[in-house]
Amino acid sequence: MLEVSDIGKRFGGVAALSGVSLSCAQGELIGLIGPNGAGKSTLVNVISGFLKPDTGRIRVDGAEVAGNDAMAGVRAGIARTFQTSRLFGDMSVRQNVEVAHSRCLELRRSQGAAIDPDALLAECGLTHEADTLAATLAYGSQRLLEIARALALAPAYLLLDEPAAGLNDAETAALAGRIAEIRQKHGCGIVVIDHDLSFINTLCERLVVMDHGKVIASGPPAVIWKDPQVIEIYVGASPPTTPAAAPAVSGNTNRTH
Ligand SMILES: Nc1ncnc2c1ncn2[C@@H]1O[C@H](COP(=O)(O)OP(=O)(O)O)[C@@H](O)[C@H]1O
Ligand SMILES: [Mg+2]
Repeated sequence: MLEVSDIGKRFGGVAALSGVSLSCAQGELIGLIGPNGAGKSTLVNVISGFLKPDTGRIRVDGAEVAGNDAMAGVRAGIARTFQTSRLFGDMSVRQNVEVAHSRCLELRRSQGAAIDPDALLAECGLTHEADTLAATLAYGSQRLLEIARALALAPAYLLLDEPAAGLNDAETAALAGRIAEIRQKHGCGIVVIDHDLSFINTLCERLVVMDHGKVIASGPPAVIWKDPQVIEIYVGASPPTTPAAAPAVSGNTNRTH
């Protein structure tokens, strides 16, 4: 179990996170949603050790993870992708995955040994591009490579920050299938952030909704889309009767007031 409790983080006068708690069980697939600026990426940065929180703790299977230490995060079994690509552009697709895998063998010896970089490339549909320079990949393939690279760290918990952003409908549907397969095959808990609500609703069994640095709702999609506070945030999007019929709002959750 990944347990994040009472996280606070300020940037000057901005309370990016206040009292945020969240848990993700092994094998659970959670959608983290909310308007731009809600604090979703900041939360991923804190959980993965890329950012030091002002308050709160992160535990994996009861053991505390040292904050502000990305290597400690990896060692504890946490891997993440970035909202904006951070691939090694001058390395091949395979090398990007191999670099992460070497790090995994260093930090997570037995788990790392179970990972086969070529199998990850196949799983992410990148085998035919294994020798291509990452910088020259099409955008959709770059997003998949980020996921393959995160999986090379043998994560028990995988945090995906807007993996479907910029993808077309067919690519988004294919990505949803791959993420479901990854969960099944690797058994990891997955937290996925996205603005594409139909993508999120189809994929995730639980949603966590953030607004202004706080978690305002958490539960199955069918419950979340009846929550008045959530409906108010997604103004103009009437609540769906079934999760699959959720409003297909795409990135337009910026407030106008
Ligand atoms: N490095 C930073 N420096 C200053 N402010 C930041 C920084 N990162 C995020 N913020 C602010 O924190 C808030 C939450 O941002 P973010 O976590 O990126 O939201 P989201 O991912 O939900 O869109 C925003 O007000 C944003 O401007
Ligand atoms: Mg973000």
